[in-house]
Amino acid sequence: MKEPTREEKYRVLKDPEEIRGLYDSIKKSDYRQTFHTQPVTGLLNDPNGFVYYDGYWHLFYQWCPWGAFHGLKYWYHVVSVDLVYWENKGVFLKPDTEFDNKGVYSGTALPTAERLELFYTGNHRDKDWTRCSYTCLAKLDEDSGEAEKKEKPLFGPSEGYTEHQRDPKIIYNAEKKKYYILLGAQTKDKRGCGILYESNDIEGRWHFAGELKVPGFEKFGSMWECPSIERIGDKDVLFFCPQGIKLPGHGEITNHNGYIVGRMDYDSLTFIPDMGFRFLDEGFDFYAAQCCEGDYSDRHSVLVGWMGLPDAVYPTDEENWSGTMTVARELAVEGNRLLQRPLRGLERLKALQIDHKQKLLPRSCKMEITNLSEDFSLRLFTDEDGKGGFRFKYNSDENELYADRSHMTMRFNTGFGEERTLSFENPLRKIEIFIDRSSLEMFFNEGEIVFSSRVFPVKDEKHFYLKGNGKLRIWEMNPAVKDDFVV
Ligand code: FRU
Repeated sequence: MKEPTREEKYRVLKDPEEIRGLYDSIKKSDYRQTFHTQPVTGLLNDPNGFVYYDGYWHLFYQWCPWGAFHGLKYWYHVVSVDLVYWENKGVFLKPDTEFDNKGVYSGTALPTAERLELFYTGNHRDKDWTRCSYTCLAKLDEDSGEAEKKEKPLFGPSEGYTEHQRDPKIIYNAEKKKYYILLGAQTKDKRGCGILYESNDIEGRWHFAGELKVPGFEKFGSMWECPSIERIGDKDVLFFCPQGIKLPGHGEITNHNGYIVGRMDYDSLTFIPDMGFRFLDEGFDFYAAQCCEGDYSDRHSVLVGWMGLPDAVYPTDEENWSGTMTVARELAVEGNRLLQRPLRGLERLKALQIDHKQKLLPRSCKMEITNLSEDFSLRLFTDEDGKGGFRFKYNSDENELYADRSHMTMRFNTGFGEERTLSFENPLRKIEIFIDRSSLEMFFNEGEIVFSSRVFPVKDEKHFYLKGNGKLRIWEMNPAVKDDFVV
């Protein structure tokens, strides 16, 4: 694909009609998803402002309307009553002030008694393209459903760090009766970290509180994007995306999304780890996950992520769109491990159960393999003879699953690596697989490990092959996103 110019990347969208033609052609793509949130046109990246508020689940995402590249970013809004069926609401935050002239970057939401508050990064660049990040506030206007931006940012960049300071995570600490904003940042000597600001009042004065200390993680990448601290069960969990570091088992990739279970001490601004860093997902395409905020009993226990990666290219780039959200996952902490189960409500999308003897794989389906006990081999998207495909091989002695995507016709991001080995803590007994037209999400052992990847099967790649002793069932999945033109 021809590299767009800066002007093309940062063009302001003035009228939805400017992209209607793009949408009409993209809609015909064979790879459009049916039960995953995807961009109307252009590029989707991080989930933002994921929140349960006033009877609806609100989800926003980073959106660049013009094509499959990172240019001028907007917040696009989708809503759901059940996290299963999603409706497009259109653009929410636009880059229309001096403080966010080159993009409304990622952030989070906080529902208060009076309103829904949204915190985001204003990405400002001057004429020389020097960047300056502002932490900004907007609220949802209940009557119009539109965003109302606070005129001035809450605060600007902190002196002690490079230009990389962004992605506010708002936290209310009830014990201290204080608000905190956690930003992802980079120290002047190019180390990734989190920095914290505090205030007694959302719209009041914010003070720089200090750098988040995470013993053992002082040198862990060159920038931490999208950090957050969540209370899940009786543990705190630090989520973040370390960049500029290669990690064991993930090949040449230098952008990761993982977590540490531990305890957050707001007196000393220290996150005390109970364990090492774990990947949130062992697949090839996963980043910038966000937990939901909301006034319901299971607070913070639902997560979605971007099924994509920075610096990656995808076959649909040629069609001028890229990126899709994962399905929602329900979280629990067991010991020091996060369990991520597929949202129970997704069961409602199950349609016809398929006679799997024909070895045909519907384009959108759920596959479930239970009672696994021995070695097995699974190939998805093979040809009629079981050749090719996305391949998995389980070795019960080692309790490891080997994944290999190199036999697919459409190969992409090959430089990141095409193989993975997943090591389980418990013997592998159950796999739940969600396939949509261009994605694959696998949940192993009730969410002990999750594996999410984009996949672009071509015409004949519509069969599967399973050799082993598990019990297999397959259901077609009903569509849950409308994919209509709302801008
Ligand atoms: C992560 C990220 C964030 C930033 C946003 C811009 O993917 O780079 O740090 O706010 O995307 O789209």
